[in-house]
Amino acid sequence: CGIVGYVGPQNALDVVLEGLRRLEYRGYDSAGVAVVVDGVLTTAKKAGKLANLEKVLADQGLPAATTGLGHTRWATHGGPTDRNAHPHVSADGQVAVVHNGIIENFAALRAECEATGTEFSSDTDTEVVAHLLAAVYPTLPESPDRLAEALRRVSRRLEGAFTLVATHAAEPHTMVASRRNSPLVVGVGDGEYFLGSDVAAFIGHTRHALDVGQDEVVEIDRTRGVTVTDFTGRVVEPPSRTVDWDAAAAEKDGYDWFMLKEIAEQPHAIADTLLGRLSDHGAIVLDEVRISDQEVRDIDKVFVVSCGTSYHAGLIAKYAIEHWTRIPVEVELASEFRYRDPVLDRSTLVVVISQSGETMDTLMAMRHAKEQRARVLAICNTNGSTIPRESDAVLYTRAGPEVAVASTKGFLSQVVACYLVGLFLAQVRGIKYADEVAAIVDELRALPAAVEKVLSEMEPVRELARSLADSPTILFLGRHVGYPVALEGALKLKELAYIHAEGFAAGELKHGPIALIGEGTPVVVVAPSPRGRESVHGKVVSNIQEVRARGARTIVIAEEGDDDVLPYADHVIRVPRTPTLLAPVVTTIPMQVLACEIADTRGLDVDQPRNLAKSVTVE
Ligand code: G6P
Repeated sequence: CGIVGYVGPQNALDVVLEGLRRLEYRGYDSAGVAVVVDGVLTTAKKAGKLANLEKVLADQGLPAATTGLGHTRWATHGGPTDRNAHPHVSADGQVAVVHNGIIENFAALRAECEATGTEFSSDTDTEVVAHLLAAVYPTLPESPDRLAEALRRVSRRLEGAFTLVATHAAEPHTMVASRRNSPLVVGVGDGEYFLGSDVAAFIGHTRHALDVGQDEVVEIDRTRGVTVTDFTGRVVEPPSRTVDWDAAAAEKDGYDWFMLKEIAEQPHAIADTLLGRLSDHGAIVLDEVRISDQEVRDIDKVFVVSCGTSYHAGLIAKYAIEHWTRIPVEVELASEFRYRDPVLDRSTLVVVISQSGETMDTLMAMRHAKEQRARVLAICNTNGSTIPRESDAVLYTRAGPEVAVASTKGFLSQVVACYLVGLFLAQVRGIKYADEVAAIVDELRALPAAVEKVLSEMEPVRELARSLADSPTILFLGRHVGYPVALEGALKLKELAYIHAEGFAAGELKHGPIALIGEGTPVVVVAPSPRGRESVHGKVVSNIQEVRARGARTIVIAEEGDDDVLPYADHVIRVPRTPTLLAPVVTTIPMQVLACEIADTRGLDVDQPRNLAKSVTVE
């Protein structure tokens, strides 16, 4: 969910709505706002996207106020209805609360409130917090931090994950927030203060951010400024930082969709991720990796742990890291990892990959790895987010803010970061294929230009996409690193176009899935380079023939000059020659363009597909 809070001289509703617009990618099942003025709290909320709430506000209006909060929801407890939309208000109308996360002991707390006669007006876990706060507040002595103290007391009773932001009708210039296992940042402006689930909430107003830590409460007040304490009231000094992207980076810039803009930004995202990390003599320079050389030499196993698209980056990492370092690599979905009781110890390196740095499944997997004393290296795109803060080392991808829910530039920069990690490990531990690695460093430098070239040749892919828009199913095949690319192609299509899609290892097809192929079934095949030591090119050409013989319409992504595929391909999409292990950086792009264009042709919301959210902060 997305959260924004404001106290300051401006019109609070305008500030809050602007923040919500930028945060909508965090969830768009419903939206709501609350403002406080003259001792009165007023709320408005509506199911569906923010635009629905804006319509309501245009009709009914809200009193002009300088203190306000807002929420855009990805539903967990209670369906996405008006009644379950946040903010939730206490029965006496004094307290409004917005929440991101899940309060696991809400049933017991709700029963306790109901026993004293409180009536609930929603099915959410959140509402209980509003009632508890309203009950505690009057029992506390008058003091400047009365509302913060009330929230500390309530927070101590909560289990699970929460970012909570609350306001009280009696405190028109104060807002409080609390966090456990869920993100919260403070924006510090000139005489104005902001709360947000990420910096997008206030990037239009200030770049000065404070990070609120685990189990801390923050109060923002127009005269007293920002005060952060732990749940017992001990004052803590929050880490401060300057946000290095500006509001314009999170604008559409004339593109129809953020996704199109982000696809186009990929050459930059890759170049920035490489920047300063390749020395002139071909060495990998990774200052941010705070693991000693000895510790790197002691590593005897690597786990890569992540979710969704980031998991596919991990699958590609396995091929590269194992090949270059000869260390065994296992790749695992974060949501499965810790519950399986994986074998980890001090000599295990766990690489966690997360664009947002907030995905709860990944965070929990990482904490489990740390408990088992493994070293944790995070690959992350969001400065100051929870995952890099809690990891032993971090390698930031520098893709800039990614707003479209489906990841594109985030993914490619993760893949490039994985190469850097693999080459770095190889460099410290001694390299088996020294010549090859030196050549790879040069090839890495050439990637932004290669990506640029692919992007300039996508018109035929868009045309092809339009002809595929009514397909009931589309299959994706690949071998070696082409296999994760096939999985990513299928995922993109599912999430954006709501078309049934599956990615298969091309060699596995004959063991079952080939039965899915009928007359005209579109099959997208990632053909590997015909050159190179590990080439499986000939085998993939055979696989293309196998599906074609069964009626498939074959769409083949192949290297320039690879004419072997021509007799069996109904459509060929060309990509520049690239070494096998780096090829996913170019072969993924047609997949992104296909899915985006198919979804657009079907009239769907490309940036905000149904049921999804960009950063999922619940398990
Ligand atoms: C969500 C998004 C996916 C994303 C995944 C992992 O499910 O919808 O697009 O790949 O989270 O996100 P992360 O921020 O951890 O990379």
